[in-house]
This record gives sequence, C-alpha cells and structure tokens, in this order.
Amino acid sequence: MTAAQPQLDIEVLAKSFHRNKGRDVRAVDNVSLRMEKGDFVVLLGPSGCGKTTLLRCVAGLESPDSGRISLGGETVYDSALGLEIPPERRNIGMVFQSYALWPHMTVAANIGYPLKMAGAGRAETDARVKRMLDMMRISELANQYPGQISGGQQQRVALARALARGDDMILFDEPLSNVDAKVREHLRLELLAMQRELGFAALYVTHDQEEAMSLATRIAVVADGVIHQIGTPQEVYRTPRNLKVAKFIGSANQLDGTVVNDGTGPAVETPLGRIALKEAALPSAVGSRVSLISRPERWRISMDRPHAAAAWPGKVRASAFLGPYNQYLVDLGETELQIWQQGSHPLPIGSEVWCQISADDLTAFVSDSAA
Ligand SMILES: Nc1ncnc2c1ncn2[C@@H]1O[C@H](COP(=O)(O)OP(=O)(O)OP(=O)(O)O)[C@@H](O)[C@H]1O
Ligand SMILES: [Mg+2]
Repeated sequence: MTAAQPQLDIEVLAKSFHRNKGRDVRAVDNVSLRMEKGDFVVLLGPSGCGKTTLLRCVAGLESPDSGRISLGGETVYDSALGLEIPPERRNIGMVFQSYALWPHMTVAANIGYPLKMAGAGRAETDARVKRMLDMMRISELANQYPGQISGGQQQRVALARALARGDDMILFDEPLSNVDAKVREHLRLELLAMQRELGFAALYVTHDQEEAMSLATRIAVVADGVIHQIGTPQEVYRTPRNLKVAKFIGSANQLDGTVVNDGTGPAVETPLGRIALKEAALPSAVGSRVSLISRPERWRISMDRPHAAAAWPGKVRASAFLGPYNQYLVDLGETELQIWQQGSHPLPIGSEVWCQISADDLTAFVSDSAA
C-alpha cells in the first residue's frame, strides 16, 4: 500500500434485497465513502437503513449489485470487472453485537485464533495475545472460558480478538450495545485510546448518539440506504444539511410554519406567532412551508419575563434534575418544547415560565411532508 491510497474507498455501491411478495429493498443506494488511515467513521441511522449491509459488503460477506470497493489501494470488489475477493483475503477485523466467542476455547485461544489462521508462529502469536490482553486489561482472564466471564469481559475479548491481527481496517457492528451503560462508557474510551495507539481505520455502526459523537472523527448519517451527510460530530450537530439529519442527530424542537414577508422583513408564521429571520437563513421563498429546528440547550427558561429578546409564556409540564443540567418539557399552547438548562434546583411542574431563544439558534429547513 502506498501512503497516498485511502484505507477504504467505496464508490457508488448498491445492494438491493428481494422481498417475498414485495418490492425490492434498496439497502445500500449508491453509497460512496472514502476513509484515510486513522479515520474513525461512525454510521448513524435508524433501524433498517442499511448500516449492517454496508459493513457486510465491505467485509465480503454480502455480494453487492454494483460499484467498487478498495482496501488500502487494492480493489476487492468491482462489478464492472466481475472482481470479488473473498472475505478471508480482505484482512479486515470485525466485531459484532453478539460477541460470538468460541465457547470451547480459552480467552487467550480466542484472541490468538485469527493470528493462527493467518499463519503466525507460536512466539509471535503469544506475544501479540499478551499485548492485547494487557491493552484490554483482561490478563487475569487469559485461561478462563467465555462461559466463565461477564458480558462486559466477553466483549473485551471480542474486541481484543478483532484487533489481534493488527489489520488496518476494523469493522464494528454495534459492538457495545449488549453491555451495560457504565461498562459501555468505559469501553468506549478504551477503544478510542487503542485506535489512536494502533492507528487502524474504523468503520463503526451504532444507534447511540453519544457513542457516535464521542468516537467519530466523522459521522455519516444514513437513512434509506443513502448517506445524507458526513462530517465531524460538530458539523452534523451544528450545521445539519437537511431536516432528516437535524431531527436524527441529538434532540431537536420542531416548529412548523410558513415563510412570510409583509414588507418589514422576512419571517416565519408559526403557532408561536411571527418569528423574524434573516433572509439568508431562509431556505425557500414566501409562501413555502418550513420547519424551524432548535436544540434544547439553546433555549432559556425563567420565571421572570426577559426584557430584551422575544419570549413566549409557557407552563412546565415535566421537570427533572439530571445532574449536569435540568430537563424540562414546557407547553406553549399547543406547542411542546424540550429545554435543558443548568441549575441546582429544577423549576417545579406547573411553573408559569418564559421561554426565549435567539433567532440565530433557530435553523430553518424546507419542510418534509412525511415529517
Ligand atoms: N438477507 C436479507 N434479505 C432481505 N432483506 C434484507 C436482508 N438483509 C437485510 N435486508 C433488508 O435490508 C434493509 C437494511 O438492513 P440492514 O440490516 O442493513 O439495516 P441496519 O441499518 O443494520 O438496521 P439495524 O439498525 O436494525 O441493525 C432492511 O430493510 C432489511 O429488512
Ligand atoms: Mg444492523
């Protein structure tokens, strides 16, 4: 592999499945994705959007309909050439949601197995297994069998096994979703540290937004087999490209309305009244339907009416203390807002409050009728 080659290059890849008595499902719909060495790309998207299918195509476990895939500069799939390299020759590590450890092998033997299959010698295998056991902090479990250790420990073993061969590309399909929240958070940080140290490129599937945000160098938001946006966690969170991405990433308040301009400047007519927005902030012309999206942490809530900014009266319907911030559901007539705000004592349910937000924190998107 030459330094200039991407670690993974997927070009207009497509894969459909035939449904019994139904229409074909375009699980992967002309997806292109390029990853450099050390990249950590997280595929984030709703159930059934094609994440697993994409991973399986890269691994060679699924045969795509068309497109091209290369790994480290070597073409492993090309529909035009009729080329398809089998999975065992793609040098990819993989971790799945179910740990899939071999029950009759010890922890050490499980981790060493891929090395053995790749023809590594005994001494090399032992040294590598020892290193993985150390890195995953499970040295004391080396001689146990999978049935004798906890779920979190089994997942550590599965991770160690996937990384043991030192492949440049590792695929992860929801590897942490079966372990409890505390262990998950811990493993996430360790995985990140290992990735930075070992330098592999990771293509990682999760449903968990926090996991995606914390691990990814880039997040790819997938829906209906299509990558809607790919960018740093900050980019997809702060500047989502469309309504689908905005609503899928993080928590979002949505206010639907119509673009108006009565001569005093552009605005959106919403159930909360007319909200003035800059011309440049509006995605479409007067008369069109738009959705204003706002993040719960950008709203401010107070008992007293704020002097300056536009503010709306509301009533607290739900209130919870979460430690770092308080979480509220506030009713503003028919409109419901989710608001997160720091404070040691949350306002009680039933409080009559004022809610405010800067117009800069409202992002307007063309409404999607299905939304
Ligand atoms: N072997 C198959 N035969 C027919 N349809 C399939 C097959 N595998 C997947 N599909 C369909 O392809 C689509 C994508 O499935 P996929 O498993 O890739 O989704 P996913 O994003 O991984 O979902 P989840 O988050 O639930 O794991 C779904 O509509 C699914 O029903
Ligand atoms: Mg899946």
